[in-house]
Amino acid sequence: MNLQGRDFLKLLDYTPEEIMYLIDLAAELKDQKKKGIAHDSELRGKNIALIFEKTSTRTRCSFEVAAHDLGMHVTYLDPSGSQIGKKESIADTARVLSRMYDGIEYRGYGQEIVEELARYADVPVWNGLTNEFHPTQMIADMLTIREHLGKLKGIKFVYMGDARYNMGNSLMVTCAKLGMNFVACTSKKYFPDQSLVEICEKIAAETGATITLTDDVVAGTKDADVIYTDVWVSMGEPAEVWKERIRELSPYQVRASVMNNAGVDAIFMHCLPAFHDLSTTIGKEVYEKFGLSELEVTDEVFESEQSVVFDEAENRMHSIKAIMYATLPR
Ligand code: CP
Ligand code: NVA
Repeated sequence: MNLQGRDFLKLLDYTPEEIMYLIDLAAELKDQKKKGIAHDSELRGKNIALIFEKTSTRTRCSFEVAAHDLGMHVTYLDPSGSQIGKKESIADTARVLSRMYDGIEYRGYGQEIVEELARYADVPVWNGLTNEFHPTQMIADMLTIREHLGKLKGIKFVYMGDARYNMGNSLMVTCAKLGMNFVACTSKKYFPDQSLVEICEKIAAETGATITLTDDVVAGTKDADVIYTDVWVSMGEPAEVWKERIRELSPYQVRASVMNNAGVDAIFMHCLPAFHDLSTTIGKEVYEKFGLSELEVTDEVFESEQSVVFDEAENRMHSIKAIMYATLPR
């Protein structure tokens, strides 16, 4: 398998075999790191640029730690610290950064921006999250599921909440590619876009996956292997939508009754950050306005034995390392 020189923009661009290769490579690099085996010989001295037009904890830290473990140097461009978009076009930025860096990570708004960046850049571009997709999260999530359940193919994977945004879209694509049974369990308005559903159904027909959209919590989550959720309001969305989201998505909160209806060995996953208590500024503001102290997941489920969210967060680093290791030309 040779992925050198490839961009990593969305999993629709990757075959099931290539995705499995990245998951296996992430597992191998994780094992090496745990054993103290260095893996900095091949990429030592390379430089990467990290462009973040939205904030981040996990993705940024994962790229930085992974780059350092691989012997590389990093430049971080924060949401206000560059000319991108304001004084310089994406196309020009891509051509400038390609003259200095060996790879570019981009987190921002529309998917078309990262696609344009990749079109003009001569070096691999990695999508660190757009409104539509979050592909690096997918490798970490699949690695985490395999670590806990021992397999991917054939499992029932249920996504609750806003299934038409980056996480719902990416998880539906990934499940379709890897032969998993994807269920979007949410209010109809929050079902993924029909055109993406149709693309995924075509992929599913070849891999043995299934795609189900339902607003029935009991039927949707029955005997599930994985229950997954994400914030109800994503980065870049206006605060005004909270009221509507709370009203429409509260029935799809992940609570004990959902986990009890799922399979006995079901795990709970969340890409994080999560609103499960009042320890955040936004969490407190929402509580003061709407009286809810827990949003997409209850604190009970978040802190339960079934919750694997911190394994998932750790795996972001190992999987981002695998993506860079695989795609950077030697
Ligand atoms: N899951 C995730 O992408 O987290 P950050 O926003 O902290 O990078
Ligand atoms: N849907 C969330 C994911 C964060 C990792 C957002 O875009 O804010």
